[in-house]
Amino acid sequence: MAKLRVSSFGLSLDGYGAGPNQDLQNPLGVRGPELAAWFFPTRTFQKMFGQGDGETGTDNAMAEQGMAGIGAWILGRNMFGPIRGPWPDDNWKGWWGEEPPYHTPVFVLTHHARAPIRMKGGTEFRFVTEGIGAALERARAAAGDRDIRIGGGVATIRQYLRAGLIDELHLALRPVLLGAGEHLWHDLDLGDYECVESLPGERAMHIILRKRAPQTRSPATSRTG
Ligand SMILES: NC(=O)c1ccc[n+]([C@@H]2O[C@H](COP(=O)([O-])OP(=O)(O)OC[C@H]3O[C@@H](n4cnc5c(N)ncnc54)[C@H](OP(=O)(O)O)[C@@H]3O)[C@@H](O)[C@H]2O)c1
Repeated sequence: MAKLRVSSFGLSLDGYGAGPNQDLQNPLGVRGPELAAWFFPTRTFQKMFGQGDGETGTDNAMAEQGMAGIGAWILGRNMFGPIRGPWPDDNWKGWWGEEPPYHTPVFVLTHHARAPIRMKGGTEFRFVTEGIGAALERARAAAGDRDIRIGGGVATIRQYLRAGLIDELHLALRPVLLGAGEHLWHDLDLGDYECVESLPGERAMHIILRKRAPQTRSPATSRTG
């Protein structure tokens, strides 16, 4: 069955998925690129952005897996760009140029309505103002039997986690401490997940968390209400 998954999500040891002070110069926040330093050298990333061959190895294999079998993406508005509040105009079309690497419908959560944007290569950004349930429903309809990937950022993943809707998360744990930024785990109960794989890569430790079958959560940690 099609999964709702997070893949290749770079995380610091202290749990941050983005640095503080995101803006046009710092899309990932200050020091955020340290979270993606495992991804940039991979063949997967280099092929997407057309520079050089890139490295093969475990990091690349994990990045490649993350891109396979996806029929739709869900993003938060902060991942889509640096603009906050009402859209001043229709000029901003994402960080990724004329041909973004998604090649599917991409549902962007926002409180500020905007017409869809069709890009080269099959990516279409569709803005969703009715919340995470509506975005997921539309993504499922678009994806058919393929998976839906939540691309981030942190606030978006957190909402789907809190709602218990994510089937699988692949985290690329980086050996850095950010101390500030967007924290992935704060105040979340992850007792419904288990770690099914941990695999050392060249620049990150790859951790796969999977949602447990409903009856397998231990009574000692079960929610009581
Ligand atoms: N570590 C990684 O691998 C990784 C991966 C992806 C992204 N990132 C980084 O994560 C950062 C972005 O994360 P973030 O936590 O700041 O924000 P985000 O999740 O990308 O976006 C949050 C924004 O999306 C809109 N939104 C979210 N949920 C909504 C809902 N239910 N209904 C309506 N609108 C909703 C709101 O924007 P409005 O109210 O303004 O419309 C909200 O402020 C960026 O720096 C990005 O580069 C990191």
